[in-house]
Amino acid sequence: MARNATNKLLQKAKKSKSDEFYTQLSDIESELQHYKSHFKNKVVYCNCDDPRISNFFHYFTLNFKELGLKKVIASCYREQKRDLFNNEEFENGFFYEYTGAEGEKTKPSSTDIIHFKGDGDFRSAESIEILKQADIVVTNPPFSLFREHVAQLVKYDKKFLIIGNINAITYKEIFKLIKEDKAWLGINLGRGISGFIVPEHYELYGTETRIDNSGNRIVSPNNALWLTNLDTFKRHEDIILTKRYFGNEIEYPKYDNYDGININKTKDIPLDYDGVMGVPITFLHKFNPDQFEIIKFRKGNDEKDLSINGKCPYFRILIRNKRLQIDTKNLIEKEKCQQVTKAIRNAGKMLNTNIIKTNKISSKLKV
Ligand SMILES: C[S@@+](CC[C@H](N)C(=O)[O-])C[C@H]1O[C@@H](n2cnc3c(N)ncnc32)[C@H](O)[C@@H]1O
Repeated sequence: MARNATNKLLQKAKKSKSDEFYTQLSDIESELQHYKSHFKNKVVYCNCDDPRISNFFHYFTLNFKELGLKKVIASCYREQKRDLFNNEEFENGFFYEYTGAEGEKTKPSSTDIIHFKGDGDFRSAESIEILKQADIVVTNPPFSLFREHVAQLVKYDKKFLIIGNINAITYKEIFKLIKEDKAWLGINLGRGISGFIVPEHYELYGTETRIDNSGNRIVSPNNALWLTNLDTFKRHEDIILTKRYFGNEIEYPKYDNYDGININKTKDIPLDYDGVMGVPITFLHKFNPDQFEIIKFRKGNDEKDLSINGKCPYFRILIRNKRLQIDTKNLIEKEKCQQVTKAIRNAGKMLNTNIIKTNKISSKLKV
């Protein structure tokens, strides 16, 4: 019990740590360059962002004209935690709107911002009112509220481009969206996202930490992703397949509890297997819904984790090659024809041999 409680506390501390990962302008630029056409005449809402410091807000005000934006709004949450020992007055949440009009600030200060009546929580009525007028939400929400953040975007039918942790794919709510082709991974993933700015109190340790030229403390967890429902070029590019299943069956073991083969790396997906294949979650980074179909996540027919000889590989996504369905049908037809031709040829050969044998016997008999 005690150990459980400690673990929970540690997990909570870990969670709230990544809630304070601030996104670098370079990472925003590197991703956003692929979506420019989506922003014309649109209202963008960064609903977990302090407009004074957010690089998301900064990016959109800097590129306001180039993107042809209508408006960008950033709102900031302020925790209102009062208890028996702490009865201080707390600052309310706040927001700032930019429409490109004269006098508006691309980097507002504390005297420019407008305070909410409440805390500015993205789930609050005040924030939802802004959300309703927005077309696209772009932000890095607190990871501990990632599910709720996405659920709200879906509920209000918003376009979005947000940062999350790769593990979010394994959440059943998020995977459902991916399976139904209502959300997909953006362009950059893992090491493709260079790192996050962390506050002073964040302890820097390990090789994945540094201080940049401006003195920002940077942590590179290499486990972040962009989740979006804005179309990207990547979803329309086929994964080039080079490996073969037939002849190499030993490299593709079958699951104990599902009629499918296990694949450890996306690059090992065979080009000639038309059944179900279990692939690692990183496959989603290359997923083209015209090439592959997502069947199921993680579980076999018995609803237990997929296993091979009793051992479970890390989470697998069960997929099927859509293109092969058509190719295979043609191939099977072709093979059937070839087999029939072969059988006829063999029968012909046998007939010939028998005729020769019969002729020999009959000539012997005549003698
Ligand atoms: C991961 S940080 C990212 C900040 C900023 N979006 C960025 O990318 O630089 C998440 C932010 O969400 C804020 N936050 C936490 N809970 C929130 C809530 N319920 N509603 C809105 N924002 C919240 C945190 O204060 C923190 O600034």
